[in-house]
Amino acid sequence: MSNGAMPKPEGSDRADAPRHVAIIMDGNGRWAAARGLPRAEGHRRGVEALRKVVRASHELGISYLTIFSFSSENWSRPASEIGDLFGLLRRFIRNDLATLHADGVRVRVIGEREGLESDICALLTEAEDLTRNNTRLTLVVAFNYGSRQEIANAAQRLAREVADGKRDPATITPDVLGAHLDTSDIPDPDLIIRTSGEQRLSNFLMWQAAYSELVFVPIHWPDFDKAALEGAIAEYATRERRFGGLVAKNVAKTGS
Ligand code: IPE
Ligand code: IPE
Ligand code: MG
Repeated sequence: MSNGAMPKPEGSDRADAPRHVAIIMDGNGRWAAARGLPRAEGHRRGVEALRKVVRASHELGISYLTIFSFSSENWSRPASEIGDLFGLLRRFIRNDLATLHADGVRVRVIGEREGLESDICALLTEAEDLTRNNTRLTLVVAFNYGSRQEIANAAQRLAREVADGKRDPATITPDVLGAHLDTSDIPDPDLIIRTSGEQRLSNFLMWQAAYSELVFVPIHWPDFDKAALEGAIAEYATRERRFGGLVAKNVAKTGS
């Protein structure tokens, strides 16, 4: 039984267009250092790359784009750099929200809100509320996000339901746990791209990445553009996704 002879799963005519692409935008600091510039300039140029990649994502027919913009562990950086990164997020939402909305982008934010400054929380909520009904592309911003924290939070919520007598522990299946994650309404990523040559997840979407294809590109994030995204998608298209079976299914079956 050859894979080629099998009937194609529904939607596989677009097998080369992943529905959900998630990106670990790495290498801003090294991009800047290589040019004798401050790290902040690398982050600023990183936002420009992000704008291009959001636009390219609509054009390439991607439905979900998740970006890792600040990790739970990035708090260990110097306060001045954290200030720069938060400033860029504020500016990105203030400057780009209207355009994103006009372009039909729905913004979703995942990660821990507790402990963030109230004006940042207000901006994140405003972005989500304004764009809630858009359907062209969902931009998932992973901000103050860590996969272990997300899973621990889900476990806490489930434990509380059990303690309150509202849940039988035997009902805690992978689907139920998944439904308690920040990403409960978002399909698992088909493709995870990491720039800058590093080959690790760094606490990003570890549950959701169970069957994601991983593509590592050597270029630093500020240099990432539509052509680089197309290159990563071309690499993805060569992969045979089997989900534990014997037959290639190049359309994600996991997630909602
Ligand atoms: C990615 O670039 C941006 C964030 C992690 C917020 P880095 O700041 O990690 O850049 P490098 O890895 O030091 O080059
Ligand atoms: C991952 O990059 C986090 C983001 C891109 C926001 P890091 O630069 O923080 O990851 P490590 O420390 O190299 O693993
Ligand atoms: Mg880095």
